[in-house]
Amino acid sequence: MQAVATAHPNVALIKYWGKRATVGNLPATGSLSLALGGLSTETRVRFEAGRQGDRVLLDDREDAETSARVTACLDLLRGEAGVTDGAVVESRNDFPTGAGLASSASGFAALVVAAAGALGLKLPPARLAEIARNGSGSAARSLLGGIVLLKNVGTGTDCTQLAAPADWPLEIVVAVTATGQKAISSRQGMALSEQTSPYYPAWVESHATDLDAGIAAVRNRDFPALAEFSEHNCLKMHAVMLSTRPPLIYWTPATLACLQRVRALRADGVPVFYTIDAGPQLKAVCLPEAAGEVATALAAIDGVHQVLRSPLGAGARLRAAGD
Ligand code: PMV
Repeated sequence: MQAVATAHPNVALIKYWGKRATVGNLPATGSLSLALGGLSTETRVRFEAGRQGDRVLLDDREDAETSARVTACLDLLRGEAGVTDGAVVESRNDFPTGAGLASSASGFAALVVAAAGALGLKLPPARLAEIARNGSGSAARSLLGGIVLLKNVGTGTDCTQLAAPADWPLEIVVAVTATGQKAISSRQGMALSEQTSPYYPAWVESHATDLDAGIAAVRNRDFPALAEFSEHNCLKMHAVMLSTRPPLIYWTPATLACLQRVRALRADGVPVFYTIDAGPQLKAVCLPEAAGEVATALAAIDGVHQVLRSPLGAGARLRAAGD
């Protein structure tokens, strides 16, 4: 009763920040994301007959909050399989964890795929997405590859692939400007924004326009339009974060310097735009021919520790035995 799965983190271009309901972890808005194929999480799940409770190791460390979220997802899968055995979960990221690189998205996508595999479950994709979403709102997006749309439908969500990696081979350059764990998790941060930011209602109300524009830009392979709406949506989310009490300031001076550099490059005709999630890393989305120049430009900025280059990636998948 064990299996290993791989998943990639994803970066949202049109983002979600806030919940519709805490039960089931439903997002307030839809979102549009890219799978980062160059960054991976690998998760092994082993159910042990008669074991009480789960043991969860993330990059060799145990943490009570993560363990509770993992157990909540595993309970749903145990319910589907009709078993009560505890599990040992070992998960590793080949990139900084909890630092705004969507490690929770890849982590929970890999977890549900590995656990369902270990239990021999063949669940409909929508049910697997619902279970992953319980762990992390953006995890359902990492179940699919390429460019992914997560929409609110009725009392649930619907996740679809808008383009496979080969359909529009964008490349992402990640500028890592800090490697520590962020002080406030996305989950805590968005709850604070809902309660205290006077801009939160406007964020939710104006979101559909951005999402529709983002979907149209992907369908038409219109890079300038995708750049315009993604940057606008990103800054709007950060305006909500900045106006939260206490304020959520995820940027470092280097984040801002990277943002200005990307703007200057695009003004010079380089096909690149930026996005930033709940963390200090800047992700520069490029047409492939621009990625080398963008990576060199960002690596030269003071305070940039590391630059990672990533093509679009595939969805979460089981690793074959012996892989
Ligand atoms: O998936 P969560 O619950 O960690 O929240 C993700 C929030 C953002 O990354 C800031 C935006 C998004 O849509 O991914």
